Amino acid sequence: MQTEEGIALIEDYVMTVLACERTGHDYAHISRVVYHAKQLAVAEGLNARETFLVHVAALLHDVVDDKVVSDLKQAECEVLSHLETIGLDLAERENIWHSITHLSYRKQLDHSQVLSHIGQIVQDADRLDAIGAIGIARAFYYGGAKGHALTSITPPRNKATLTAANYREETSVVNHFHEKLLHLEGLMNTLSGKALARQRTQFMRDYLAQLDQELPPLT
Ligand code: ADP
Ligand code: NI
Repeated sequence: MQTEEGIALIEDYVMTVLACERTGHDYAHISRVVYHAKQLAVAEGLNARETFLVHVAALLHDVVDDKVVSDLKQAECEVLSHLETIGLDLAERENIWHSITHLSYRKQLDHSQVLSHIGQIVQDADRLDAIGAIGIARAFYYGGAKGHALTSITPPRNKATLTAANYREETSVVNHFHEKLLHLEGLMNTLSGKALARQRTQFMRDYLAQLDQELPPLT
C-alpha cells in the first residue's frame, strides 16, 4: 500500500472513532497535532519514512485511550490491525504502538517512559495543542463538558499528590493549569517545540494574572 493510501485509511478510521467526541479531543485536535508534528519533523531533520510514521502516530495518538473510546480492547485490536494493513514492519508497528500508548501526561505521572524520537515529536505536538490560546480554550471546553467548576477554593495538587489514578478526579479548570498546563513547557522534548511552548506558556501566565486581578479574593 502507498503511504498516501495508508494515511487516508487511518484518517477515515480516526474520523469515525472521534465523530461524536465533544471534550476537545475531536478530529480538529488531531489535525492540529498532525500539523505541528509535521513541522517538528522537518525541524528535527526526519527522513520521508520517519515523517510518514510521525504522521500515522499523530493521527492515532488519542484513539487508544479510555477518555475517548469506551471499548479499549476493541480499539487496540483495530489499531494494530490497521498498522499491519498499511504495511508497517514489526519494528515500525512497535515504535508507533509504544509511542501512542505512552505519550499522555496522565500515564507519565506514575512512571516516566522514554519515548522514541517519533514518539517525542508527537508528544510535543500534542502538548502544544494543550497550551497557549488554544490550550485555554480546550481546558474550559473540557471542564464544561465534564461539569467541572471554573475555580475552587481547593488548592491545585502537586507532583507528590497527583497520580494517574486520581488525575481525572474532579478539580477546577483553573487548577488544571497549575496541575498540568504550566508544567508542559519544561517537559518538551524538541528545541523548536520548546521555543513555541515558551511563548504559549507566557500567554497563559498573562491570562491567569489577569484572571486573578478580576476575581475577588478567595475566602
Ligand atoms: P493526556 O492525554 O496528556 O493525559 P489529558 O487527559 O490531560 O491528556 O487531556 C488532554 C486535554 O484535555 C488537556 O490538555 C486539557 O485541554 C483537557 N483537560 C484534561 N483534563 C482536564 C481538566 N481536569 N480540566 C480542564 N481541562 C482538562
Ligand atoms: Ni491529544
